[in-house]
Amino acid sequence: MALIKINDLHAEVEGKEILKGINLSFETGEVVALLGPNGHGKSTLLNVLMGHPKYKVTEGSIYYNDIDVLSLSIDERARLGLFLAMQNPPEVPGVNNADFLRAAINTRSEKKVSTYQFYKTLDSATKEVKVPFDLATRNLNEGFSGGEKKRNEILQMLLLNPEFVLLDEIDSGLDVDAIQVVSDVINKVKGESKGFLVISHYARLFDLIHPSRAVVMINGRIVLEGDSSLIKRIDENGYEFIRSELGINIEKEETYMNKVSIGSCAVKESIK
Ligand SMILES: Nc1ncnc2c1ncn2[C@@H]1O[C@H](COP(=O)(O)OP(=O)(O)OP(=O)(O)O)[C@@H](O)[C@H]1O
Ligand SMILES: [Mg+2]
Repeated sequence: MALIKINDLHAEVEGKEILKGINLSFETGEVVALLGPNGHGKSTLLNVLMGHPKYKVTEGSIYYNDIDVLSLSIDERARLGLFLAMQNPPEVPGVNNADFLRAAINTRSEKKVSTYQFYKTLDSATKEVKVPFDLATRNLNEGFSGGEKKRNEILQMLLLNPEFVLLDEIDSGLDVDAIQVVSDVINKVKGESKGFLVISHYARLFDLIHPSRAVVMINGRIVLEGDSSLIKRIDENGYEFIRSELGINIEKEETYMNKVSIGSCAVKESIK
């Protein structure tokens, strides 16, 4: 049975339609790579799956086992076992990282974890993710370096033990050694009963975590699926073949940008 089933999903943000009919399903045990050019809706899909309030679903459905995900709040989704490691984890001043982690663990388990057991678990998890213990006791993401924020997301994943894991560019900002550490943790956590949907622009991460499948999002739709050779092809040649071979026009972000540039007459350009 599919762990997650997304059917004809349309979603908009700020009144602009970003997802234009996503159909995807994930079996348990799968690690799926999600690729696509900048600004084509990958993070939007992950945010919609998690229930970010800025994104409005206008059509379609998402089922987790037999549960209608769209009818649930973010915390209900997290309790079910959905987990999102964000592309840009926000700083939360005033919220202690360890307190936050402990509260999150407690909402996912029937019995509250004791202080002793929590700090023991936290100590071994920080060692595994190779972050200083001090990072776990500071305010959540406040003043963390880019790489520390990403590793803290992985620390959360390890401690919460989610069922369906969404990783949004977890490798961005990580040094080479940290990518290896994060991949080792992902490989340890993934298993028969779990699912992973992983966004990255780089083959290096995928070489280390061995996705079972790759899907490509263009213009808010999944246009192509394949195996790891698809990741290699994109890594080496970019997305141009999608236009030339599949006849799909890849909308560019620049379309929306101001056309006036240095060296052109601003007055002439603006009255065009
Ligand atoms: N909160 C928001 N407010 C306004 N526009 C948004 C918001 N979130 C996303 N968008 C727009 O939706 C489009 C898709 O963004 P999204 O973040 O999903 O892209 P992406 O495929 O993840 O790109 P990248 O590879 O650069 O991370 C972009 O044009 C983006 O500017
Ligand atoms: Mg993104």
